[in-house]
Amino acid sequence: MELNVVSGDITKHDAGAVIVNLFEGVTAPSGGTGAVDAALDGAITNLIASGDVTGKAGEHVLVYSLGRLPSPRVIVSGLGKQDDFDADTVRKVTAEACRRARDAGATHAATIAHGAGIAGMAARESGEAIAEGAALGTWTFTEHKAPDDDRKALESLTIVEADASKVDDLQAGVTDGLAIAAAVNRCRTMAYQPPNVMTPSAMVESAVEIAHGTDMTIEVFERDECQEMGMGAYCGVAKGTDEPPKFIVMRYEGDPENPDNNIGLIGKGITFDSGGLSLKPAAGMSTMGGDMAGGAAVLCAMEAINHFKPRINVMAVAACTENLPSSHSQRPGDVVKTFNGKTIEIDNTDAEGRLVLADAVAYANSLGVKRMVDVATLTGAIGVALGNDVTGAFGNDQELVDQVVSASREVGEKIWQLPTYDSYKEQYKSDVADIKNTGGRGAGATTGAMIIGEFVGDAAWVHLDIASSANSFGDHGGSDKGYNPKGPNGVPVRGLLQLVRNLAG
Ligand code: BES
Ligand code: ZN
Ligand code: MN
Repeated sequence: MELNVVSGDITKHDAGAVIVNLFEGVTAPSGGTGAVDAALDGAITNLIASGDVTGKAGEHVLVYSLGRLPSPRVIVSGLGKQDDFDADTVRKVTAEACRRARDAGATHAATIAHGAGIAGMAARESGEAIAEGAALGTWTFTEHKAPDDDRKALESLTIVEADASKVDDLQAGVTDGLAIAAAVNRCRTMAYQPPNVMTPSAMVESAVEIAHGTDMTIEVFERDECQEMGMGAYCGVAKGTDEPPKFIVMRYEGDPENPDNNIGLIGKGITFDSGGLSLKPAAGMSTMGGDMAGGAAVLCAMEAINHFKPRINVMAVAACTENLPSSHSQRPGDVVKTFNGKTIEIDNTDAEGRLVLADAVAYANSLGVKRMVDVATLTGAIGVALGNDVTGAFGNDQELVDQVVSASREVGEKIWQLPTYDSYKEQYKSDVADIKNTGGRGAGATTGAMIIGEFVGDAAWVHLDIASSANSFGDHGGSDKGYNPKGPNGVPVRGLLQLVRNLAG
């Protein structure tokens, strides 16, 4: 979708729909909304008086201009309470209003700059949030559907700003917002691709596309190379499939003179998780093509990071493979030796994410990564603990956990820290190996996290369990929610970007 910024009078702008806004409780609209109200002979004021327009969050009232404006439709979008207003409000409002305009039949829409008026938000921040909201909120995944002439699409959104001095800042914000949204939307698309399309090799292709034309580098290790390096846990998971596993390493060097100023972003890239010989029930298996969402997120975060060029070195590692049953699959009861020498008893082949990540975090640590964040659709248990849209955070370094949590909050990604008491280690003791790969029924998300934590060496480490937060289908029915249309939502690409930018200062 195209985004433009122009200075001018929104009441003179010709588009399929014009988007204006209202805070809850306002009875006499001002600014752009006031100008449109005046052009409509007070129609919005009358709708407020009659209670049809309240300004509540989530409200988008379609008003027909019936010839009083060049645009046939006006959408009055509620901003909610002024005290709750922030950039996330702008993203949500823009996303919902754009879908409302699209569904009403508009192919081009115009909007005032939400927040940049009386709410006092900087024009740049407003432009960024509008662009993110529009591009994230209208994302669709129709690649595998037959062309449909009735399928509606919003082709462009124009921000019309009365104050010409704000246009440059709005435009700068739009450029950043579109770059962020492109990275998030790429992550969503990768996660939504069916598992016969988004294979480990296809993940390499995506990584190559991301790095193309940048200074970022990619290294891909094949099955035999990973075996030689001693990645017995990762290779054990890959044993059951003939689809070549790919261990992808991508580097962004924003501070080459200070190699220790670094962070590793490590992703679980299981492109299909059948459970392996510990086979999943049929009912839960068909969404397991999305089990590479963590791997996609770390690669796509690199795309966004490269746009901002922060002064820090970032390494992304995506450990990609299928987890399948076959006559050469690993067995429950097998013992594997990991990259750092520790051995793991395979109690359940469906607990494969922690296995591929054990080798991935140990590998990153061996290269001198001082801080790392791993991202994984690791456990069903995290959804039991936190519900559908909250990411679980775990770590061995409270400062880094706090930094990850606050970066996520800054961008509107919900997150909550869970504990990692040493006493949980009892649950994954093994009789035959150093540890086993499961921790029993209690605190399943925590033991999964802590098993990964056994391999991070001296690095400060945070684990993000996105098994239930990285998509908007699941138990809550599967509906569009703010700027997250139904489907994978690209969490935590924006949070990782914010973290890296914050760490770079
Ligand atoms: N990929 C799954 C976790 C998952 C479940 C992601 C539902 C998305 C939705 C993971 O590999 C898995 O199977 N975890 C097991 C671990 C158990 C065997 C210790 C689980 O959560 O049941
Ligand atoms: Zn899995
Ligand atoms: Mn599994």
